[in-house]
Amino acid sequence: MSKNFYVTTPIYYVNGDPHVGSAYTTIAADVIARYKKSKGFNVFFLTGTDEHGQKVEETARGRGLTPQEWVDSMAPKFVDMWERLNINYTDFIRTTELRHKEAVKKILKTVYDKGDIYKGEYEGKYCVSCETFVPENQIINNNCCPDCGKELRTVKEESYFFKMSKYQELLLEHIEKNPDFILPISRRNEVISFIKQGLQDLSISRTTFEWGIPIEFAPGHITYVWFDALTNYLTAVGYENNSELFDTMWNNGEVVHLLGKDILRFHAIIWPCMLLSAGIKLPDKIVSHGWWTSEGEKMSKSKGNVVSPVEEIEKYGVDAFRYCLMREVNFGNDGDYSTNSIINRINSDLANDLGNLLNRTLGMYHKYFDGVIRESGKVEEIDLNVISLYDETIKIIEEHTGKFEFSKALEAIWRFISRMNKYVDETTPWLLIKDETKKQRLATVMNFLIDSLVKIAVLTMPYMPEASQNIWNQL
Ligand code: MSP
Repeated sequence: MSKNFYVTTPIYYVNGDPHVGSAYTTIAADVIARYKKSKGFNVFFLTGTDEHGQKVEETARGRGLTPQEWVDSMAPKFVDMWERLNINYTDFIRTTELRHKEAVKKILKTVYDKGDIYKGEYEGKYCVSCETFVPENQIINNNCCPDCGKELRTVKEESYFFKMSKYQELLLEHIEKNPDFILPISRRNEVISFIKQGLQDLSISRTTFEWGIPIEFAPGHITYVWFDALTNYLTAVGYENNSELFDTMWNNGEVVHLLGKDILRFHAIIWPCMLLSAGIKLPDKIVSHGWWTSEGEKMSKSKGNVVSPVEEIEKYGVDAFRYCLMREVNFGNDGDYSTNSIINRINSDLANDLGNLLNRTLGMYHKYFDGVIRESGKVEEIDLNVISLYDETIKIIEEHTGKFEFSKALEAIWRFISRMNKYVDETTPWLLIKDETKKQRLATVMNFLIDSLVKIAVLTMPYMPEASQNIWNQL
């Protein structure tokens, strides 16, 4: 099995501040990156910002700025947010960087030379907010986007097309042969049935605005923003400028893209077709997660109910926020972010279960043994029981983390924590201390407890790096 692991988040649009949706994917990527690193993998973790396109150009102009000034003012907000959330990425890519423009030029040229790009005319509807072309049969409410509901623009312009239809069968075959290519399974089925309806060629150039990467073989045309954005995954690992890194991470690594369900089609259809055409290996896993609502309602700026990670971190602390997002819903499902459930989780899982185990154990160790480790005695059945639950926990964590089922992995860790709290109640160290003949049994029990905390610190590290470090420090 490859020991190189390359994980990506989507690159975020810079039109608004980072919110709980962007934080969610980024935290998940950070968790898996930390987990893989702890297992000895050579990890490359990429995130960044998607800075071209009509929406950015229009927003910038509306603010009296050039698009470059606007994106330069917004990108640092993401860098800052990820720092606050303790996101340990390897690279942060901005699509306005030179290295990325060069990579986009390269893939366009490769696909063009292959004969997969032709000139035509695009006539149809475009959603500027989603930066996507909307086929007639998907339009809703007269003239609105099926995804975001916003009014569509009519576009009629000369355009270059990518022969996506040519790759329909190859892609289907790949998806069918690789059951883990698109996760979770339910979404995989959606993608398959979408492809089976027939893929159309994709318009990949625009002429009616300027904020994008110019196409060398098509003067006056700029690259369609999704064609540009998807290529970021290649840019960062040296597709154009570092063949050694590219070989390690892309060709000989496990490549995993994490993203929300709304942008799955771009990743599971357009992206693999681009790679097939360019003769580049396909990613190994495309994993999509569900959407968060806020107190039961869709988040929207106009309703003012968008969950702000900054505010949440200030209220609850960074680890509690990370923990709750990963624990509350299983990756893949939709979830609701509510103050009630967050507070419940913090009180019961973090304070009651984990906090108690730590405080009770350390408290007793100091009180009974002045904090000095004593030699253990005979191991009893209840101790063996705890050892076997731990071994089982590790297996469960492995299995679920491998499938990006973070909440189930956490559930298993917390089962172990609860078991250890019960172990305290059952072994009753406060009675053992009173009996001179039970001193060694007390040492055994306390050592099992200390050992469990060492394990818990390791297991929780990907999710709650600071809390885990704190446990270490106290131990
Ligand atoms: N720029 C594109 C991605 C290009 S990747 C080559 C984009 N950006 S985005 O900023 O609009 O969205 C980024 C991510 O945030 C998506 O994965 C999306 O699913 C996620 N979310 C946005 N709102 C969300 C929720 N309410 N809940 C969960 N995730 C959501 O799309």
